[in-house]
Amino acid sequence: MSKNTPQFTCTACGAVHRKWAGKCDACGAWNSIIEEAPLSSGPKPLGAKGRTIPLTDLATEEAPPPRASSGLDELDRVLGGGLVPASAILVGGDPGIGKSTLLLQATAAFARRGLKCLYISGEEASAQVRMRAQRLGLADAPVSLGAETSLRDILTTLDAERPDLAVIDSIQTMWLDTVDAAPGSVSQVRAAAHELVTFAKRRGVAVILVGHVTKEGQIAGPRVVEHMVDTVLYFEGERGHQFRILRAVKNRFGPADEIGVFEMTGNGLAQVTNPSALFLSDRGQTTPGSAVFAGIEGTRPVLTEIQALVAPSNLGTPRRTVVGLDSGRLSTILAVLEARCGIPFAGLDVFLNVAGGMRVSEPAADLAVAAALLSAREDVALPPDMVLFGEISLSGALRPVGQTENRLKEASKLGFSQAVAPERSKLGADTGMKLRQMPDLTAFVGEMFGAG
Ligand code: TYD
Ligand code: MG
Repeated sequence: MSKNTPQFTCTACGAVHRKWAGKCDACGAWNSIIEEAPLSSGPKPLGAKGRTIPLTDLATEEAPPPRASSGLDELDRVLGGGLVPASAILVGGDPGIGKSTLLLQATAAFARRGLKCLYISGEEASAQVRMRAQRLGLADAPVSLGAETSLRDILTTLDAERPDLAVIDSIQTMWLDTVDAAPGSVSQVRAAAHELVTFAKRRGVAVILVGHVTKEGQIAGPRVVEHMVDTVLYFEGERGHQFRILRAVKNRFGPADEIGVFEMTGNGLAQVTNPSALFLSDRGQTTPGSAVFAGIEGTRPVLTEIQALVAPSNLGTPRRTVVGLDSGRLSTILAVLEARCGIPFAGLDVFLNVAGGMRVSEPAADLAVAAALLSAREDVALPPDMVLFGEISLSGALRPVGQTENRLKEASKLGFSQAVAPERSKLGADTGMKLRQMPDLTAFVGEMFGAG
């Protein structure tokens, strides 16, 4: 590409394209590609020699980084056990989901534990942040507030103050005067994040960047900075549901896939220490089409209810509607039920839903999904005290999944007394549950619903 050819960048994922297109090939987003001036005129030729960098070997002894705990267990766990000094964290989420609320509470919690904390808002005036803090009962926490969008001024302030933690709310409002593009554009967001992350590493300041997930348009999404930071957290939740899930999708200092569960109340976010109870709380009388899945989220067992509705369709292509699960997974399970167990779903509309707005991505949910579908189709309710888990392979066999014992323990704790699991599931201590191990889906259908 010559120096002055314009380039086209996807605002959702940052992929660079040679020409404009309606859809980004890299991430599949529609109408997200915009034209941008090239970032720089390319690398300078390596004429002059660089200096030699000091090298060490792998055996060099270094103490593990001391972590700062906020006292909010749900947050500390998602961070991998606390905040690592000089780390860069991205917190993404839809606008209005509660990111500013969460981070204000987190900053206050860290400040009360003795960390020097700075909260820079580019979206709200200091008075607005202060008002929110008062409402949340955090007005006495020793947090320094700033309302600014110029990154040059912010970096100067951070350099003078040297806090332990700086929160930047949000990265899309920041602008650098060295970059010739509007705030929120891919090049501004990328450059601002790069400056902040480099600053964090060099000066030993932990930074948390807030990023709004954008559906389309001219604003860059948080995905364009994901690769620069150490930890990527997403704050998710369904509108109309009170609870919010903080999910680690990348973490250089701890396990990914860990979740923290919060509930949005009138006084801010409250921690939910027993999420299973919350997700199952609406469960009244068990009806056909409902199955309880004993899942694992990160290191923690979480029980969720899978709901299915199967009804005769008057459409040529029956409807397949899924909320909270992968729709490809549903198609696979329907195909296995049809091909291996001889139970057709042709001519039937299928609706599948994970209760409470939770999102399940574990393959271990397959068996519970199949059970919910069968139960809905046959109009037979499953026993109310039963949980299920197991992965279904294309042959119809049930494959064992990890952490059987943890799943059973959690189910037992919540008053369930029987479980269906794949054969050869690894068992340790007795959990007090009646466990039925099944080799394949056909055996399961035969036992639960008669011979199909
Ligand atoms: P906010 O943190 O401003 O969202 P974000 O920064 O992700 O855009 O949260 C805004 C929503 O949270 C708003 O709809 C009101 C709700 N909320 C409460 O329900 N209770 C509270 O105590 C607070 C502070 C906010
Ligand atoms: Mg906000």
